[in-house]
Amino acid sequence: MALLRFFSIILGALSLAESGAAYKNKPSPFTFAAESTGYQLAGPNVVPEIRVAPNDLPGVIRVAKDLAADFGKVLGVNATVVTADWKATSQQGISKPVIIIGTVGQSSLIDNLATSAKLNTANITNKWETYSHQVLSSPWAGQEAVFVIAGSDLRGTVFGAYQVSEQIGVSPWHYWADVPPISRKYIWANSGVYTEGPPSVKYRGIFLNDEAPALTGWGKANFKQSQYGSAFVSDFYKRIFDLVLRLKGNYVWPAMWSSMFYLDDAKNGPMATEYGIFMGTSHHEPMARADKEQGRFLKGSWDWKSNKGGVQSFMEEGVKRSKDWSTMYTLGMRGSGDAASATLSASSLEEIIKWQQSVLTKVTGKPLSQIPQVWVMYKEVPGYWQKGMSVSDDVTLLWSDDNRGNIRRIPIGNENKRSGGSGMYYHFDYVGDPRNYKWINTIQLQKTWEQMTLAYDRGIDKVWIVNVGDLKALELPTAHFMALAWDRANFDEPDSTTEWLKEWSGRQFGEDVAEATADLMTTYGKLVSRHKYEDLSRTPFAFHASNYDEAERNFQEWSDLVASAQAIHDKLPAATQTSFFEVVLHPITAGHAVFEIYTKTALGSRYATEHRVSANQFAKDVNSAFQRDKDIAKKFHTVLNGKWNHFMDQTHIGYNNWQEPGSNSLPKQTYVTSLSGNNAKSALMGVTPQYSSQSFPSTTSKLSLPPLSPFTPPTEQRYLDIYARDNGTFSYTITSSASSYVSITKPNGTITAPGPTSNTDKRSYIFVSDWTSVPKGSTTVTITVTNTAISPQTVATISLPLENPPTIPSDFTTGHVELDKTISIEAAHFGPSSSKEYLTIPTYGRTLSGVKLAPTSKSYPSASYSDGPHLSFPFYTFTPSTSSASVTVYLSPSENANPTQPNKYTFTIDDASPTTVQPVPVNDQSSQPAGWADAVIKGAYIRTSNFPSSLKLSPGKHELKIWLSEPTMVLTKIVIDLGGGVKTSLLGPPESFRL
Ligand SMILES: *[C@@H]1O[C@H](CO)[C@@H](O)[C@H](O)[C@H]1NC(C)=O
Ligand SMILES: *[C@@H]1O[C@H](CO)[C@@H](O)[C@H](O)[C@H]1NC(C)=O
Repeated sequence: MALLRFFSIILGALSLAESGAAYKNKPSPFTFAAESTGYQLAGPNVVPEIRVAPNDLPGVIRVAKDLAADFGKVLGVNATVVTADWKATSQQGISKPVIIIGTVGQSSLIDNLATSAKLNTANITNKWETYSHQVLSSPWAGQEAVFVIAGSDLRGTVFGAYQVSEQIGVSPWHYWADVPPISRKYIWANSGVYTEGPPSVKYRGIFLNDEAPALTGWGKANFKQSQYGSAFVSDFYKRIFDLVLRLKGNYVWPAMWSSMFYLDDAKNGPMATEYGIFMGTSHHEPMARADKEQGRFLKGSWDWKSNKGGVQSFMEEGVKRSKDWSTMYTLGMRGSGDAASATLSASSLEEIIKWQQSVLTKVTGKPLSQIPQVWVMYKEVPGYWQKGMSVSDDVTLLWSDDNRGNIRRIPIGNENKRSGGSGMYYHFDYVGDPRNYKWINTIQLQKTWEQMTLAYDRGIDKVWIVNVGDLKALELPTAHFMALAWDRANFDEPDSTTEWLKEWSGRQFGEDVAEATADLMTTYGKLVSRHKYEDLSRTPFAFHASNYDEAERNFQEWSDLVASAQAIHDKLPAATQTSFFEVVLHPITAGHAVFEIYTKTALGSRYATEHRVSANQFAKDVNSAFQRDKDIAKKFHTVLNGKWNHFMDQTHIGYNNWQEPGSNSLPKQTYVTSLSGNNAKSALMGVTPQYSSQSFPSTTSKLSLPPLSPFTPPTEQRYLDIYARDNGTFSYTITSSASSYVSITKPNGTITAPGPTSNTDKRSYIFVSDWTSVPKGSTTVTITVTNTAISPQTVATISLPLENPPTIPSDFTTGHVELDKTISIEAAHFGPSSSKEYLTIPTYGRTLSGVKLAPTSKSYPSASYSDGPHLSFPFYTFTPSTSSASVTVYLSPSENANPTQPNKYTFTIDDASPTTVQPVPVNDQSSQPAGWADAVIKGAYIRTSNFPSSLKLSPGKHELKIWLSEPTMVLTKIVIDLGGGVKTSLLGPPESFRL
């Protein structure tokens, strides 16, 4: 049979880490056509045999079986695993295609292939977690070829095996997100050496946390509970380790709210070691002992000062128990149960860590430098370090974010010279102030990219661990984080996250929908960056109910997103739909329902003040959305016969403090009752101009639309809403005092209530059809809405200001143009004279994108306006500035990650004196700076500065320049208010017209 077609010689090596480029598809050693060159591993009635040496590590023999089963998922027939040494293997030709898997120095197969010089192990030997894939021709007499997976160590080999699984078509998410395997008939291994590793970050992993009710409820329904009542037993951790290793991770902090990893199942500890996972314990669980063990086994209280002996023997037990397993020890100490201790001080912590390290060496018999150990700089802990402590260099300082994805601290001074290096404890989920976020995914990947590449580039490369909550629902940010940790070089370019997302979506859901899925999740990331679900119940509603149509537009984006996601979902093959639902469609539809609840509550409340009957429809819609939220959770709980039951048990609607509510509850709705009195009929018609908090007939003040000019941004359209204020019917006409150049869509209509909103509410757009006919300068057109159904007719008059400014001179070729005393600028739209040290992160942040300094290694701490890189924003105005003129700068919620060089920006307009702003105060590192909660809720630091008193802008051409001082700052938007132009909103005015 034409099984072996291997004839090409090995042509050089291919490195999988292509540095300097945006995220790229890794070159695959496989092709899947019926005919190909290379070594055929599978075809009709052909399945490979996997050979592993009996002397190899148990974790390698284990993964060989996984690989065989993964071939089975792809081919329909399992590969076979043969455990055989070199002697038994090399006697004669083997009839099946052969895959040899093994670890350098541990496998008689690999070592003999290396000795016979067939297998080039030069690039993997003695490396950390490195593997290569290569086809060898004539490895022994009678054998035409073999495909080799050679690893430098246990995890190197394991990653090499799972890489094959993924490349032939088994996703790391085969279990946790039900990604179906790709069916294949043929598999060919190409010639060439494919090497990957060592990883960018040495220890990379996840923390299962805040694990009730979802993960805990699910666990109890699926696994036999331990004698202590925990379901997080070895059958559970097998699933976790499978995922972590397939994501090329090696580190796990186990669930700990009500479980004890080492005690809940005696197999847990040794199993982690066999698989190749380093087990740690969370930041407040030192020396490999769970928090929950304290209540059972600690003699006396958890207090170093009053109970040193008791605490010491408790901690020492932890090391004794875990010393033969792969363990990363958490050092230090905090108070009981994730709280600060009242009795600890910098000097007692110093003493604790010294003592802990002496126990580590004593019990394990290893030098400190060979024992992985972290001290977690979480919450109040950096405050002790800040006071100056003498701590052995061998411990890794595990810095942390602010629980909301903003890195609190990067290494400074000599900290990067410490042999233990630095790590990062990051969050995709949190329980605590200002509010929990633990329901579903609220992570913007571009932000993870921005913060974690900064961390890496500033020396945080020893340990990365991320809190993934219940894990499920956070599949996407988890996959992204692990990909970054594995190979930072794949993520050099600012658009690499988008590229990665496309590639990832293609692998999970198919190439056909890769780009569309990436678009969906990019938009989703933007929408959730504006507010987390749990923060939406604050009042007033974050998104303004009338200004800039903010609430309405934001919700429209959600509705459009749902429609696109549903359409993509419906076209997918059935097997992929489940997975797509779990990862993509669910968060989009579930998020949409929650936004509908809060948006329509806010709009309904505004409508009620207008006596608009559709307030009642909105209240109904809110109730339906509340029901839909339940239905969506139920659907999640019933896919695949209830495989994921309980994962959506988390409450998320009706938060009124940081802690979750006991049950979901609706915000209060406002209803409109019948108009009473004789004039009810004449009061039937209501009219509200766009952006207005005033309406006809409720208000006695003059109604006005926002102005129009030839420089109205294309996204802006003026409109009037005409609606019923009670049950009844009326007809209306809309006319303008300048019909030769002002046009009105739907200039007449009929309103009928009760009924759907399409009958009770109509929107007419008003636009200028011919600017050449509009008088120059400022004029006002009167728009009249007449209720023609009654006599005497009721008439609403609304003024429409028109600004027809002088022509912009031809030397103003690029920049933003004023409308209504406002110049709103997206940061990415900087002018051509900006310094080249700035790069744009596409789709970053709440509106369009972000701009930051590059490279991340460089800072400009003096924020000097005379030198250092700046951004230039040319703009054109028609209105003179007044004394209330201001500049508002929108930045990412980044912290002062280097406390000796706080984030600052300086701006100038034209030749006026510069204004320097430090958006975040530097405070004691034991807590968060003032203004922090507001910034993380809004997803932005928003800082407004008045114009310097010397600055008076006359109409004409101007330039704003801005200097950022630190690469952790991301500028997203700038709004110039010439005085009284800008209205209150969360996101700022829509971007101005741009030349
Ligand atoms: C080993 O790595 C070097 C440097 O990347 C490369 O030039 C060489 O081709 C590699 N050799 C093999 C056999 O992979
Ligand atoms: C393939 O392997 C898997 C995992 O070991 C096993 O569950 C399955 O039954 C095997 N299939 C066949 C056809 O042997």
